[in-house]
Amino acid sequence: MELRSHVSAWRKDGLTISLVPTMGSLHAGHLSLMKVGKEKSDKVIASIFVNPLQFAPDEDFETYPREENCDILKLVEEGVDLLFAPNVNEMYRQNSKTTINVGGLTDCLCALSRPGFFDGVATVVTKLLLQALPDIAIFGEKDYQQLLVIKRFTTDLDIPVEIIGAPTIREKDGLALSSRNIYLDPKSRSIAPSMFSILSQHASNISNGSDIKKSLKLARQNMHDLGFDKIDYLDLRNSQTLETCSDLKRPSRLFAAAWLGSTRLIDNLTVT
Ligand code: PAJ
Repeated sequence: MELRSHVSAWRKDGLTISLVPTMGSLHAGHLSLMKVGKEKSDKVIASIFVNPLQFAPDEDFETYPREENCDILKLVEEGVDLLFAPNVNEMYRQNSKTTINVGGLTDCLCALSRPGFFDGVATVVTKLLLQALPDIAIFGEKDYQQLLVIKRFTTDLDIPVEIIGAPTIREKDGLALSSRNIYLDPKSRSIAPSMFSILSQHASNISNGSDIKKSLKLARQNMHDLGFDKIDYLDLRNSQTLETCSDLKRPSRLFAAAWLGSTRLIDNLTVT
């Protein structure tokens, strides 16, 4: 495989390698991960692959934004050394029968509204890691549950890679950058940043001693009042195990997923 021969040539020269997996339509959040790769290793590989395995039949696989030419310019500007952009047939053999399933972390939050999603992510990320054999792979805390799932299976499967989480990059108004934000119409776009402001407000109330149950209820109410259509979850959970928390004895995070029209937004923040 061409990718492996690049990597082994770099290794022979004693260079270290980072991998940043993406589905493309790159924004400053993705590019921040490339920057971390540049800081932590000699060579950075970006992958762009819209992974059919992590989309449910009623989700947006066909219409997911694809902007490869624009992405390539951004990667060149960022100084990324190699782009790996396989097509679906290159990634998945026709008779492939293996998927990766991670227990425990995938029975809550996004897994409930997106069945099969984490199996799809775990399978493709396993394949990317085995194809590229990097020293480091970098993922965003924006998708915090995904980051934990990836840390879990790389440990469980003895994949020799260090998984690094990088902070969420936001618009000036607080909205977490996402390739799907382009789906928001002007009204939804004006409501969207309130997910972050409500989470921030309640994270701060909870760390200042407000009752957790009452705060979570109020936060949900605030989101409804501001125009979110449906809230998939708004929970305080243990930062490592994702179990629900009734106190702040262990490191915890606030997690939310909610809909504006047909667009689903997610966000999370640490509660100190
Ligand atoms: P994608 O949504 O393209 O995201 C690629 C990486 O960018 C992920 O690690 C994600 O957490 C990170 N990211 C997205 N928005 C970010 C933001 N605002 N700030 C910082 N990082 C951000 O996540 C996926 O693709 C896929 O599931 C993938 C891991 C590539 C497997 O197919």
